[in-house]
Amino acid sequence: MFGAMLAFATSAQTAPVAAAPAVAAPAVAAPAVAADERYAHEPDIAAALPILAKSIPPPLAALDSIPADNPVTPAGIRLGRILFYDRSLSQNGLVSCSSCHAQAAGFDDPTRFSIGFKGRITRRSAMALANARFNPRGRYFRDERAASLEDQVLQPFTDKIEMGLKPGELTARIASRPWYGHLFKSAFGNPEITEDRASKALAQFVRSITALNSRYDVARVGKPDRLADFPELSSQENRGKFLFLASRKEGGAGCSSCHETDAFVMVEPHDNGLPALKDRPDDGVGETTGLEVDKGKFRAASLKNITVSGPYMHDGRFATLEEVIDHYSHGIAGKPNLAPELRSTDGKPLRFDFSQTDKAALIAFLETLTDENLLTDPRYGDPFRPK
Ligand code: HEC
Ligand code: HEC
Repeated sequence: MFGAMLAFATSAQTAPVAAAPAVAAPAVAAPAVAADERYAHEPDIAAALPILAKSIPPPLAALDSIPADNPVTPAGIRLGRILFYDRSLSQNGLVSCSSCHAQAAGFDDPTRFSIGFKGRITRRSAMALANARFNPRGRYFRDERAASLEDQVLQPFTDKIEMGLKPGELTARIASRPWYGHLFKSAFGNPEITEDRASKALAQFVRSITALNSRYDVARVGKPDRLADFPELSSQENRGKFLFLASRKEGGAGCSSCHETDAFVMVEPHDNGLPALKDRPDDGVGETTGLEVDKGKFRAASLKNITVSGPYMHDGRFATLEEVIDHYSHGIAGKPNLAPELRSTDGKPLRFDFSQTDKAALIAFLETLTDENLLTDPRYGDPFRPK
């Protein structure tokens, strides 16, 4: 042990820059420590390049939730990304944000419920994070219990199922990692580590996760009327697009009245008529506000990347998009707060009774909403992983 340390000190002195990383590993890690274990403690800061959406089209910019005191900056995103992937910020070092919000799954969890630091499961299904920034109400979580994104990103750390830290423990955990002082300095002007700054940086990283480059988006460029067929899409995809985007009056299903704009985000929470599950009571937004009129209303994530971000709904009750479409087709339940958009003129739950062709068309259209680049872009990936 002593010999190893001595060897490290000597070679570090003779060739400080080039040789240090190579010898540091055996000296520190004495017996066999797997390579990725070593990297799990050292993010590739140089590779953690910041990402900013090139340009946010004006209709979406109007929905942006960026507060005046937390502009999105490259250094802030870089810091936020490293915090997002840092497992040491959970009670036992096993869980990071990315454990439940995986890039390949559209920053969602491919399992119905997520597993927290102690192996216990979350009450609700995790949410996809792309386009979360487009949220003019600014409230987050399926029941809107977080007042802002800055507020939301701190809650998982002290959640008893998710990451299990004690209140106030986060800053000490961050401070114990040698690279953060420098990163806080570049993001905020000095190396002081505060919870407020950590939340700002994490919110910036979440805002940098946009999905605006799907096949739909590419085809949409230069088309003033999004209801008209796009030559870039197949006739089946165009049929699905029409059904999704057109109102019922226009002959469509009016999905876009709730899954709004080209970001396909939810501006207001709604009750979309899911029958209550006996073993999983959940009043959604009603639990947050305590109001009868909010019972059964839920916030949904953007439908961009929806094909990779199942299972679906707040309780992950649907494993496939077929089941989702079947729900809208003939499964909508009559509930006190069922959205007017999903009721027929007599107030009863709507029955779309889609034909097999139209069901397949809706799914084909939803498949055009996947931003493949976002799912694989290394700039959004885990900076702690060996390259
Ligand atoms: C153990 C799994 C787990 C971990 C770890 C986790 N999340 Fe989540 N996340 C969830 C679940 C489940 C929800 C939905 C919960 C709800 O709505 O009640 C959620 C919701 C969110 C939302 C709300 C999105 C929206 O549009 O309203 C954001 C943002 C988010 N998480 C970011 C993060 C960040 C940042 C971290 C790390 C600090 C993190 N999550 C850690 C499981 C997790
Ligand atoms: C009245 C508003 C409304 C309309 C209209 C509507 N939805 Fe939804 N949709 C919601 C709500 C609310 C949720 C989330 C419900 C929950 O989690 O409990 C949702 C969830 C979804 C999901 C799952 C999202 C996820 O991340 O789990 C898909 C897919 C979806 N809707 C597709 C459609 C399609 C296709 C149509 C048209 C046939 C449609 N929606 C019409 C409100 C609506």
